[in-house]
Amino acid sequence: MSTITKTQAAVGRSAARGSILGIEGMPLSEIDRLLQLARKMNPLKPRPLLRGKRVLLLFYEPSTRTRASFEIAAKALGATTTLILSSGSSIEKGESLLDTAYTLRAVGADVIVVRHPNAGAPHLMARHLDIPVINAGDGMHEHPTQALLDAYTMLRHKKKLNSLQVAIVGDVYHSRVARSAIHLLSKVGARTTLCGPPELVPEIAATLAPGLRISRSCEEAVRGADVVMVLRVQRERLAGLKLSLPDYISRYQITMTRLRLAKNDAMLMHPGPIIRGLELTWDVADCPQSVIVEEVSNGVPLRMAVLARALGKG
Ligand code: CP
Repeated sequence: MSTITKTQAAVGRSAARGSILGIEGMPLSEIDRLLQLARKMNPLKPRPLLRGKRVLLLFYEPSTRTRASFEIAAKALGATTTLILSSGSSIEKGESLLDTAYTLRAVGADVIVVRHPNAGAPHLMARHLDIPVINAGDGMHEHPTQALLDAYTMLRHKKKLNSLQVAIVGDVYHSRVARSAIHLLSKVGARTTLCGPPELVPEIAATLAPGLRISRSCEEAVRGADVVMVLRVQRERLAGLKLSLPDYISRYQITMTRLRLAKNDAMLMHPGPIIRGLELTWDVADCPQSVIVEEVSNGVPLRMAVLARALGKG
């Protein structure tokens, strides 16, 4: 189909084939397949798998890592990329999400990568378009490619995911990264503990996936962990919450003393951006166990795999 019409935009359509909207609904076999495909991708050895394809990057929210790695991944596969930001585009004039999506389809997009502040925005687009939509982060809902690249990073250091003990420490409540990671870790059989104060890790978070634990003690959560995943405290979303940052730092900041409670070969992860001195100390960010920079690098082969698969080449 070369054009999209309003009739095609019927409510109730299922997502366009190849769309990657979230980890919650993704079968384990698909997760495995994407991780295996990522291993075959080498950004330094470009492959023209997507030559002639147009990747539209539609970002309604700021991004450094996700945006840059999708763009580099697309180009490494021979595709062209076009970046549309909400600022400076007709979105500022009031164009709706779907009208923007139809416009990008009409100019020839083969796949749209979208980041949006509202949960479900990529799902809505995928139901109304006949091209794949990839969720690059939707509100506080999911960030599936971050969870995949984090799993890919864990697998480069650990033989298996199913035996891992993972502590996720920080602002789980506001984190789409946490939601996607929780679903993925649950599907692969890892043991996950969420840790933070009730304002950032509410009790209801334990219902997100089977087997999740919540701990209010950072020491307890980190002790014996194979992976300590630190999350940014999203200060921009804290208005209305009774959270004292000095108290948070004293009880939950990941310091070298706390990190030493984890296994000797534990990985220190953070999806970024990191705020040194808040959720982790400067020395933790740069310590030998930190794979924060490697996570960013691994975003490129992982997103090459995601784009290739979305367009039927993987
Ligand atoms: N981890 C992550 O999504 O980073 P960006 O917001 O920089 O893309």
